[in-house]
Amino acid sequence: MFRPKKEKKERVKLSKDSVQKAKRIFKYLKPYRGVFIIGWIFLFLSSSAGLFFPYLLGQLLGGKQTATPVVGQTDTSMLENLSFDNINTVALMLLVLFILQSVFSFFRIVLFTKVTENTMRDIRKDAFSKLIYMPMNFFNKNKVGELTSRLSSDITLVQDTLRTTIAEFVRQIIIILGSIVFLVIVSWKLSLIMLATVPVMAVIAVLFGRFIRKLSKQAQEATASSNTIIEENMMGITNVKTFTNELFVMAKYRKTIEDIRKLNIKSGNWRGVFVSFIIMCLFGAIVFIIWQGLHMTLGPDPSLNSRDFFSFVMFTVFMGASIGSVPDLYASLQKAIGATEHLMELINESTEKEIYLGKNKPDIKGKVSFEEVKFHYPERPDVEVLKGMSFEVDSGGKIALVGASGAGKSTIASLLLRFYEPTSGNYTVDNVNVKDVDIEYLRDQMAFVPQEVILFSGTIRENIAFGNPEATDEEIDSAAKKANAYNFIKEFPEGFETEVGDRGIQLSGGQKQRVAIARAILKDPTILILDEATSALDAESERLVQEALDNLMENRTSFIIAHRLSTIRKADNILVMDKGQIVEQGKHDELMQIKDGVYANLNELQVN
Ligand SMILES: Nc1ncnc2c1ncn2[C@@H]1O[C@H](COP(=O)(O)OP(=O)(O)O)[C@@H](O)[C@H]1O
Ligand SMILES: [Mg+2]
Repeated sequence: MFRPKKEKKERVKLSKDSVQKAKRIFKYLKPYRGVFIIGWIFLFLSSSAGLFFPYLLGQLLGGKQTATPVVGQTDTSMLENLSFDNINTVALMLLVLFILQSVFSFFRIVLFTKVTENTMRDIRKDAFSKLIYMPMNFFNKNKVGELTSRLSSDITLVQDTLRTTIAEFVRQIIIILGSIVFLVIVSWKLSLIMLATVPVMAVIAVLFGRFIRKLSKQAQEATASSNTIIEENMMGITNVKTFTNELFVMAKYRKTIEDIRKLNIKSGNWRGVFVSFIIMCLFGAIVFIIWQGLHMTLGPDPSLNSRDFFSFVMFTVFMGASIGSVPDLYASLQKAIGATEHLMELINESTEKEIYLGKNKPDIKGKVSFEEVKFHYPERPDVEVLKGMSFEVDSGGKIALVGASGAGKSTIASLLLRFYEPTSGNYTVDNVNVKDVDIEYLRDQMAFVPQEVILFSGTIRENIAFGNPEATDEEIDSAAKKANAYNFIKEFPEGFETEVGDRGIQLSGGQKQRVAIARAILKDPTILILDEATSALDAESERLVQEALDNLMENRTSFIIAHRLSTIRKADNILVMDKGQIVEQGKHDELMQIKDGVYANLNELQVN
């Protein structure tokens, strides 16, 4: 199951299973494998060429090779030892090396970037198309905010890894192995001494590093939770102000920022110790090896010439640096495998199309029926929300759903749209079981106006055209007119081109509602579902919206969910719901006749 974890970018234990899942990324690399392989060749070339750098540097600094170093030559300065022939040749070789390396590296980076960006585009595309086709229940299980931030951080991680981390990791491994080979060839004795010290330091450094990382992770978590406080309170600023909870909120925030301060100072102190330790050990080790090497070079029985000795030192330094960088790179790789596993899990989830297999596209006139439909939400199997609902509405009929909040009205709207499947019972459209109908085809016949309209950032025109992206300007104008939206839109200086702002915050509730209605009119659905479309409005907006809705409902099968009864008097059939059941049904006048009936009582309450 795909579930965003609270803790971001966790390092996974490299289990067989996670590697197996992460391996699916190869499917994405496959189309670009030609370029990728060439990139790898350049990586090997540039890394191997890199090995000559410490060698040549050592030869350059080591100066002219003396056949038999004289005993007690310790006071001979390095400069006296240099032969110009030699440094010119070596310098020239270094120059050639740099040219080669720059060419190799250039191609390596260009090719790796190319492969990465192509792969990332494909993964992004697939991930979003998976998301957008996910069944509704997926969005109940996963918080949208977490989902998107997790997704983008996973993608960034995989991107960095493909582009640089893997290459860097392999490069360091090549340097380490190549260095060891060289070191052993030059002097196996000195190599043994060196290998007995450097890896020991490295292990200590890694353990120390882990400890520090744990500390800074705690600090990061504290920072994240303090950011949540800011976010929540900014989103709910009206609540904070109306309840005058500023001081309370501040106190809560102050406590977390104090925690952050303490944690960061603690981890800073340890980082200080860590850095000093590394410097001490690194320099200590290098001095130790130089000291040992000098004994071999200048001692009474020299087994090493001075140029090889310098190369040896250079290799040691390079190798030490490489070893030092390996744990971090390895940790990044682990994280990336976690991220990849996660992305691949998402990409392998079943979309609606894979779950709803119906392929029929019958001519739909709008007769809808529910037979003994029972339903519970997948996440809450113990709460039966609909307990056997049956009703039927003819093509073009108007059916109203009323009842206390929590009765299951919106749930019926979700079932009609096939956001969920009934747990039992039948749902048919024009006598065809919807299970056999292509889900997109079915939804194409429907329009839904929810209570809380969410507009997309963009212009009013774009938002209306969402109902039918191919609509002409005239059709959009006419839909806006029918929706009673034309006048207010025209009053804006920019008219239809007015930006609605993020989620439509620059429009009032009634205005948004009418934009949503225009959108539905433009879609021209056979079946219309209105979920409390007028409940949040003032009297004037309600009148305008109601008029718009009356226009919209003409000649369509309409489901009207309302808690204001004035809006449903004209319905052909009113279903009065209570706790997932129909307790009364009939026309307004019929229901009013029922003595002590639920509907009659509701009406009484609202009239007074
Ligand atoms: N996504 C969901 N997951 C689980 N339970 C839900 C979900 N949506 C609604 N419910 C529950 O289903 C019941 C009916 O809700 P709903 O259909 O929204 O009622 P109404 O629209 O009549 O106010 C409520 O008890 C509610 O808590
Ligand atoms: Mg509702």
